[in-house]
Amino acid sequence: MLNKMNPWKKDQNPSSFRDRVLQIKNHEVPSYVAIIMDGNGRWAKKRALPRVAGHHEGMKVVRKITKLANELGVKTLTVYAFSTENWKRPKMEVDFLMKLPEEFLGTFLPELIEENVRVEMIGYMDKLPEHTKRAVGKAMEDTKNNTGLVLNFALNYGSRAEIIDGVKRVMDDVKNGIITENELNEEVFSSYLMTKDLNDPDLLIRTSGEIRLSNFMLWQLAYTEFWFTDVLWPDFDEEHFVEAIEAFQGRQRRFGGV
Ligand code: FPP
Repeated sequence: MLNKMNPWKKDQNPSSFRDRVLQIKNHEVPSYVAIIMDGNGRWAKKRALPRVAGHHEGMKVVRKITKLANELGVKTLTVYAFSTENWKRPKMEVDFLMKLPEEFLGTFLPELIEENVRVEMIGYMDKLPEHTKRAVGKAMEDTKNNTGLVLNFALNYGSRAEIIDGVKRVMDDVKNGIITENELNEEVFSSYLMTKDLNDPDLLIRTSGEIRLSNFMLWQLAYTEFWFTDVLWPDFDEEHFVEAIEAFQGRQRRFGGV
């Protein structure tokens, strides 16, 4: 009989997917994974759908990957949901993207709480619409005591602006005698960034075949392992995430040493 099963689809071949998950758990799992979720627009275009349909599908992928990352023992997952440059998009698309956190949290917050996930955000929160701020603020408040994976939304985030603001605050603190110029080092400067409470990512994933950082965590990614895939974000699934972790586990990290 013709075997129509696709061996890579985890629900059709659960043992092989589960075996890979078990294998991964026996090795060093990246503690912190960051993702540039790209390709929503192209995914929609391929289906003759409006771009926002791609963003909506992409939102569901965030849920799937959060669940698996938490299960694997990843401690922090940062997802780049909106950059400081994304305001240049058509108003209708921006409005849609600003409503997505509400929809995501409105739908999935109870499950995230059940899974002990803590919601956090980095980015210029003040400039977000009230309704977006409210939804994210509530999720942060409701999950603040959770001790599982930190799901960190980079929302209205831009790395160059973050670095400039950090430099300005260092200058203020030097002027006011809070620190001296000699005390400034990499660790101290990191504490002036929006990511001050986080380590640096171990693994960066970018989907959709684009090989660039797009103003994402330029300082924090200095020693991060990068993994790129042509898969568009709405098509990204648990198999792809497992593949990225496997690739990470095959890397030798030397941090400039030998
Ligand atoms: C880049 O794809 C994607 C974005 C700018 C938005 C990312 C947002 C999501 C995946 C939704 C998740 C949000 C929440 C709150 C869970 P693109 O639009 O640039 O795609 P393209 O390069 O194919 O046009």
